[in-house]
Amino acid sequence: MPLPKAELHLHIEGTLEPELAFELAARNGVALPYADTEALREAYRFEDLQSFLNLYYELMAVLRTERDFEDLADAYLARAAAQGVRHAEIFFDPQAHLARGVGMGTVVEGLWRALGDSEATHGVSTRLIMCFLRDESAESALETLDAAKPYLDRITGVGLDSAEVGHPPVKFRAVYEAAAALGLRRVAHAGEEGPPEYITEALDVLGVERVDHGLRCMEDPALVERLVRERIPLTLCPLSNVRLRTVDVLADHPLPAMLDAGLVCTVNSDDPAYFGGYAGDNFDAVRSELGLDEERLRELARNSFTASFLEDDEKLRAR
Ligand code: HPA
Ligand code: ZN
Repeated sequence: MPLPKAELHLHIEGTLEPELAFELAARNGVALPYADTEALREAYRFEDLQSFLNLYYELMAVLRTERDFEDLADAYLARAAAQGVRHAEIFFDPQAHLARGVGMGTVVEGLWRALGDSEATHGVSTRLIMCFLRDESAESALETLDAAKPYLDRITGVGLDSAEVGHPPVKFRAVYEAAAALGLRRVAHAGEEGPPEYITEALDVLGVERVDHGLRCMEDPALVERLVRERIPLTLCPLSNVRLRTVDVLADHPLPAMLDAGLVCTVNSDDPAYFGGYAGDNFDAVRSELGLDEERLRELARNSFTASFLEDDEKLRAR
């Protein structure tokens, strides 16, 4: 029985497995510049975040209808459930779809067709977090929030993702203020490739409750002390960090040092179709490569529920 856990850092578009990508391409008459799934998997050799994002955005071309988004989310939820995920807080990137002429309603309602049934179908409760692309403008983020207003009963919070360096959190101050005024929860990617200062800014300027990745906090002892003191959860993604070369090899990952420092760490999969594994695979990898014992693994699983946006009574039931 895999350890029950919550997944808090998961881009739904990053769960698009090559087989489903080809199936959706055929269904929608979209030509993919790869001969077959084998050739596509060959392209999964990344130098950094940007080289991954190029492929990630390219493959989204196959996602066109509500049913496509439903099938994508349903396939993820089935895989996650098999690996012990009981609760999933799922990112989506509407700007990447709106830019292709796929509307907000198609994306949200399509995802909801899978998420709304997920507790009954897969035993996985869910939340939806809408991310802004930080390499797009602040105005575009505000327009995106506006486009999401009819769907706010489906959306729990906002996040910030895509190319980090050169796009500091402060650029999105206004849209995070507007999101907070609408009652949305706030998270942001910070300190994946970007400097520790972006983590501080995400906390102080955007008011985030959790930091996605946050790995580079380890370069700033005063920041680590603050994150520990304020019990700010970090959603780490170990296999992602290896594939995007944020760490050279998993054995060098700072997770054990981060736990020893008292940081509230969680382990997540980020873009599992691209990075070699789902939530349980990430747990297995840190167990075998980092030598984390059962107590540490249970701490990570416990943190994942504590750090979630579930209500307190739901947290107890989910575990
Ligand atoms: N980092 C930033 N943006 C992203 C990622 C990531 O790992 N995955 C999808 N968008
Ligand atoms: Zn991410």
